[in-house]
Amino acid sequence: MAQQDDSFKKVIAHSKEYGFIFPSSEIYDGLSATYDYGPFGSELKNNIKQYWWKAMVQMHENIVGLDAAIFMHPKTWKASGHVDAFNDPLIDNKDSKKRYRADVLVEDFVEKINQKITKDITKAKKRFGDEFNETEFRATNGNVLRRQAQMDEIEARFQKALEAENLEEVRQIIIDLEIACPLSGSKNWAEVKQFNLMFATQIGATAENSNTVYLRPETAQGIFVNFLNVLNTSRQKVPFGIAQIGKAFRNEIVARQFIFRMREFEQMEMQFFVKPGTEKKWYEYWKEKRQQWHAALGLGDDMYRFHDHLKMAHYANAAADIEFNFPFGFKELEGIHSRTDFDLKQHQNLSGKKLQYFDLEENKNLVPYVVETSIGLDRMFLAVLSASYKEEVVDEAKGTSRVVLKIPPVLAPFKVAVFPLTKKDGMPEKAKEIFNELRFETNCYYEEKDNIGKRYRRQDAVGTPYCITVDQQTLEDNTVTIRERDSMEQERIPVAKVAEIVNARCSWKNVLS
Ligand code: GAP
Repeated sequence: MAQQDDSFKKVIAHSKEYGFIFPSSEIYDGLSATYDYGPFGSELKNNIKQYWWKAMVQMHENIVGLDAAIFMHPKTWKASGHVDAFNDPLIDNKDSKKRYRADVLVEDFVEKINQKITKDITKAKKRFGDEFNETEFRATNGNVLRRQAQMDEIEARFQKALEAENLEEVRQIIIDLEIACPLSGSKNWAEVKQFNLMFATQIGATAENSNTVYLRPETAQGIFVNFLNVLNTSRQKVPFGIAQIGKAFRNEIVARQFIFRMREFEQMEMQFFVKPGTEKKWYEYWKEKRQQWHAALGLGDDMYRFHDHLKMAHYANAAADIEFNFPFGFKELEGIHSRTDFDLKQHQNLSGKKLQYFDLEENKNLVPYVVETSIGLDRMFLAVLSASYKEEVVDEAKGTSRVVLKIPPVLAPFKVAVFPLTKKDGMPEKAKEIFNELRFETNCYYEEKDNIGKRYRRQDAVGTPYCITVDQQTLEDNTVTIRERDSMEQERIPVAKVAEIVNARCSWKNVLS
């Protein structure tokens, strides 16, 4: 745990030092749970957006894009259930005066039991080697069975309490499990209260004429209310999808873990409209597709796992999270929900407008069902950044080391850096010439300050896959050295080949195909 904390602190410090992420309005001591993306961070973030958008919209003929307003008619949020049900059950510790999400306290407790099972399995794997059969071990080992039963019992009891909105029972579960305040160790808990997470503001010039509007807590509703507009203008037919990237806002009480849980964040959401009765098939399809999208980046298959929801959102009939192994353990990165026809029907009821399509097979109008994929852009950023952060020994004898961000090349903020070896003999001019040509092809960086070793280290630290160095020989035969970030290997190549090599490794095709 201490090791995890340590590595997370290093990622946070690194991202500030190298211009990826800054605390928001830092000169005023920051604003909690809001962050700004710096020069390198905004590039990486844009590349993640592009990867998602290309995979969804460019690569699917039956998915189109949308960019809806953040402000929406207040009835939207009544219809969606957010006014009445977008609550977190909160519990205060009377001694530490700290506030926690009750469901997070219980989920963390269950996760600790799960970690004990994982430990038992790892030990047994070591002992039995190739003979080891995990399924059999899980089904027969006494300790594992006892722990699994304990987890199932807690989860079932907790789910029942949440569904019945029995907040006294939620508190009782925390007391019965002897869960202590993570900060003070105190078990002195106040009652559990529901807290709505939407930010409200006023629209209109005077107080008398003003209306309460909300900053959208999810981008999805902009898609639902535009269902007919898109259907009528895009020549799409059910099944089809609408994709959107945009800001969302939640007054998170327990805003923590850097950009993992923020009050202002970005979502990349896609609503796939399907014929009623086919939603489970499409749900499985999108689970698989989203898994492939993640796997193509090569951050490691063992960094992901699926988690079926303990508490289903008010609109879903099936839901799973793709969890990522962040520096603080496996946590939700993306949600895939089968949202039924809940939202469209609710909007029909409150707006009085029909939100239907004509089904040729059934020969009648139907309200489509919806399968949603929803991923937090900032969480994806954190996933990429934390998985890419590596500390490596460069030369044991000399005691040199480096910090390198092994960001998937296609997402790297800059693909190539161009250096003159020294600032004389026409090398800067030649390097600038190469740089000015390359920037038509890709995002590149020019640098001439400090010695070459320091420049390599700086580019490693921001994840640039290639460095090009112009030296004396370049002026004679028009060749340069190209250094690859991960292997640190250098090769001499003609200037004319640079773009080809860089583009081949950083091409979108590598991850989209
Ligand atoms: N439209 C469905 C929806 O909003 P959600 O599970 O509440 O579902 C979807 O959110 C994704 O948005 C999450 O998987 C997470 O990646 C991201 N997300 C949610 N709350 C967030 C927050 N406070 N800060 C950063 N990302 C968040």
